[in-house]
Order: sequence, then structure tokens, then C-alpha cells
Amino acid sequence: MKTAICPGSFDPVTNGHLDVIERAARLFDRVIVVVVVNVDKHPAFTLSERVDMIRRCVTHLPNVEVDSHNGLLAAYAGEKHATAIVKGLRAVSDFEYEFQMALTNRRLNPGLETVFLTATEDKMYLSSSLVKQVAAYGGDIAPFVPACILPDVEDKFRKDGEQ
Ligand code: PNS
Repeated sequence: MKTAICPGSFDPVTNGHLDVIERAARLFDRVIVVVVVNVDKHPAFTLSERVDMIRRCVTHLPNVEVDSHNGLLAAYAGEKHATAIVKGLRAVSDFEYEFQMALTNRRLNPGLETVFLTATEDKMYLSSSLVKQVAAYGGDIAPFVPACILPDVEDKFRKDGEQ
């Protein structure tokens, strides 16, 4: 059985992420979407909120599980017997950072390959940061996030705006 992990901050999950998860689920027997703590970021959603939102978006994908992890991704992949990390690549600007992470992860866990899926054209521009920015200013984020989590994102920013 080939297991892949789809790691990220997913703060929040976007249609771009979901597209990559759906495509990974067609390529691998088992896919674990793992919300990983990125020490360089200050997330708007808690780890459990992010896990819960993704779980609701992947109910149509029987070979996809959702988990969270606070630690090294390469070690997590080893624990789960995963042989691949699947990441979406949107633009050349993503490449340098992703390339560095892929090489580091392979150094830490030599059995671990990173597979890049190019973003689908109509989702190339999507990012969680832009979704949060549009939501914070009361813009329509319906085209950017899965419908099942739209209220969660709108509520988060409505509440934050009232504070
Ligand atoms: O969605 P992001 O924030 O770009 O995802 C980055 C993430 C969380 C996958 C990366 O920061 C990560 O793997 N963090 C865990 C710690 C780790 O293993 N660091 C070394 C990666 S080379």
C-alpha cells in the first residue's frame, strides 16, 4: 500500500488545497492530510479548527485521513510509513522554498520523496493568506474556499472584526 502525506498550515484550507488532495487521492492508496505547526506563521485558526474544517471537506474521499502534527515532518512520515510528500506548486515563486524543504526532508528521511502537483490554472493564484485578507475586509470568499467551510471562515473574521 502506497501512503502519501499532504502537509501544510491549511489556515484555512482553500479550493487549491482541496484540488491537490483530490488528485493525490487518485495517485496513492492512502493519503494523510496533516496540519503541521509552521513556527514561522501565526495562524488565525487553531490546529483543531483546521483539522475539523479539512475533515468536513474530504468526506467524499474514502482513502483520505486528516491528522495534525507538531514536530518534524520527516519523522511523522516515517511513523506513518509514508513514502511521499505531495505538495501543490503554484508558481515559480513557490519553487525555491519548496525545493529546499524537499531536499531537507529527503536528507532527514532518505526513503521520502516529494511529489509536486502543478496547480490547476484557475486556482494558481489562491492562497490562505489572500483568503484571510479578503475575508478580513468583508469581501466575498465563496469562490476561494470549499462551501462547507465558508461559514467558519466568515464567522472567524466577523467575530475578530467585532473585538
Ligand atoms: O503550508 P505551509 O505553511 O507552507 O507548510 C509548511 C510546512 C508546515 C509543511 C513546513 O513548515 C513543515 O514541514 N514544518 C514542520 C517542521 C519541519 O519538518 N521542518 C523542516 C521542513 S524542511
